[in-house]
Amino acid sequence: MPTDIQRILDLREELNRHNKAYYVDNAPTISDKDFDMLLKELERLEALHPEMDDPLSPTRRVGSDLTKGFEQVTHVRPMLSLGNTYSIAEVDEWVERCNESLGNSGGLDSVPLVGEMKFDGTSISLTYENGRLVRAVTRGDGDKGDDVTVNVKTIRSIPLVLAPGDWPEQFEIRGEIVLPWKEFDRLNEQRAFNEEPLFANPRNAAAGTLKTLNPAIVASRGLDAYFYYLLADELPADNHFDNMQKARSWGFKVSTSMALLHTGAEVDAFINYWDKERRTLPVATDGLVFKVNSLRQQLNLGFTSKSPRWAIAYKFPAERALTRLRFVSFEVGRMGVVTPVANLEPVLLSGTMVKRASLHNEDIVRNLDIHDGDMLYVEKGGEIIPKITGVDTSAREPGAEPIRFVTTCPDCGTALIRIPGEAAWQCPNKYGCRPQIIGRLEHYVGRHMMDIDGVGDENCSLLYDAGLVHTPADFYTLTADRIEGLDRVGPRTAQRIIEGVEASKLVPFDRVVYALSIPFVGETVSKKLARSVGDIDALMSLSREQLVAIDDIGPKIADAIVDFFAYTPNRELVERLRAAGVTMALSEEETTMRSDRLAGKTIVISGVFARHSREEYKDMIEKNGGKNSGSISKKTSFVLAGDNMGPSKLEKARNLGVPVINEDEFLDMLG
Ligand code: IVH
Repeated sequence: MPTDIQRILDLREELNRHNKAYYVDNAPTISDKDFDMLLKELERLEALHPEMDDPLSPTRRVGSDLTKGFEQVTHVRPMLSLGNTYSIAEVDEWVERCNESLGNSGGLDSVPLVGEMKFDGTSISLTYENGRLVRAVTRGDGDKGDDVTVNVKTIRSIPLVLAPGDWPEQFEIRGEIVLPWKEFDRLNEQRAFNEEPLFANPRNAAAGTLKTLNPAIVASRGLDAYFYYLLADELPADNHFDNMQKARSWGFKVSTSMALLHTGAEVDAFINYWDKERRTLPVATDGLVFKVNSLRQQLNLGFTSKSPRWAIAYKFPAERALTRLRFVSFEVGRMGVVTPVANLEPVLLSGTMVKRASLHNEDIVRNLDIHDGDMLYVEKGGEIIPKITGVDTSAREPGAEPIRFVTTCPDCGTALIRIPGEAAWQCPNKYGCRPQIIGRLEHYVGRHMMDIDGVGDENCSLLYDAGLVHTPADFYTLTADRIEGLDRVGPRTAQRIIEGVEASKLVPFDRVVYALSIPFVGETVSKKLARSVGDIDALMSLSREQLVAIDDIGPKIADAIVDFFAYTPNRELVERLRAAGVTMALSEEETTMRSDRLAGKTIVISGVFARHSREEYKDMIEKNGGKNSGSISKKTSFVLAGDNMGPSKLEKARNLGVPVINEDEFLDMLG
């Protein structure tokens, strides 16, 4: 029988191997279920042996701690950029320049190149010591970047501990953090649904995610990373290509599209091939990079102040088309925000027919100075969402009028109001404007809210237009015979809707709070509110001040909640939902252990615990009325300390006279 300690070490090694097989090699060697079982076993053993704590354990990829901000770190070797070109001829000229500098007669035989993808994400530098990840730093200004190690650790394809191999004792590896298309689409779909601003492209989404102060969010976004540059005092091979193959064997994701090129014809073929094929890759690329393969030649060519002379980026031209504006429509969302949309003569762009492109807001329409019937440039470079980038003013019809933003709601005619501090206009007729009403119904039935099977977006409009459903409470008055016979609703669909509505009564309280469409109250805030207040009556009666006292609830959200419940029809909605049997309080299970024993207390958790996880302790604090905080200050009531609490934190607590208690004392406190 292996000891627990040996088992912990074996499990870590085994899980690291499975992680690599799954996330780096795309060749899983174990089922998800078996993986989860091994991970659970490791979690359990680690909880029993806090002395075995290792921040690089596979159990630590979930990112549970909030970050206060990022520390700036100076790069040991500055992170430069790449010279770039849009023309193949300039790539050839660059090869000739390399040859000249190296004193070669010319041609590629004397400077073999490596061709690789130019990944369109955000660059990262990782430092490894003795095979363990010690630091991850963003490019920043090239000299200094942000230490984002806590976030990078959540990216599963990045090895925290390397596979055995001949890696240098200390080295740096650089690469690109990317958000795969699939994850990007999923994220934007979710944001569109919540009427949050969309990310324009995976690059922005990856960069934005990496800078998020909540590693749990980073962990949930599905980031990935490709590596393309190894740096150390002594490298295993004398050329770039072989070094990258080594890096792959140590556990890094190195693109398999990397190729050795010996002739000009091979370079051209590489460009032509990937110009088309890159669309089949799971991640965004905005070009190719050519690098001199030999490290000795690289050394001789050296750097300019901005970029290496031994590499060049060939950028794919952004795909652009010119097409005529048919008209601009103004569309009203669930929260009443009015978005201008350019409706275009259909045009083919990157393989898809584009008919519409969002113009986002009034400022963008004004800056582009779009007139009726203009010829517009539509682009779809790194942007998946087509974007209007300009106007061909020479093709403008004389007398064409500039597009004016509407001043009244296109649906209900109410005068629009400008949202303070934003470029957006909003229809204030929240409860009488059709798209807003239907938007709220669609939100209510959505998968993350009440998940009412059978009612999609189309059926919401249908039910509303038939006069059957005006507010979510009306769903509970539907009968099969009233819905049957509506356009395309047969007896089977009618039955599914009725059953879906019935099942929604069991949806937990936090999702009911989310389903109500209270402005700024998204999924996470709903969870927080539900847990803190316990039931709908408490939520409806809290004042702005009481709401702000809840963790993570700021004045903007608090005002929105107070306003929402100050409106009588919203209170009536709640009463009707309650009468219909919808869950209006936490369940008994969710409520057990709730108390106000920690009311008014601000608590900082630090270190590693044996009896419960940090997340569980955080949860207990909230459930008992306390507030979690990330840093010790005069306001801290006490520190709940586990093993390995950082010495600087301990000293700070002492200096400020903040009590430090251990987990047994804490559990006693809660009885
Ligand atoms: S090599 C010293 N290789 O492009 C030069 N960079 O425009 C090291 N990038 O900051 C960079 N794919 O973030 C290199 N295969 C690749 C790349 C790549 C994407 C990014 C990188 C760099 C930027 C320069």
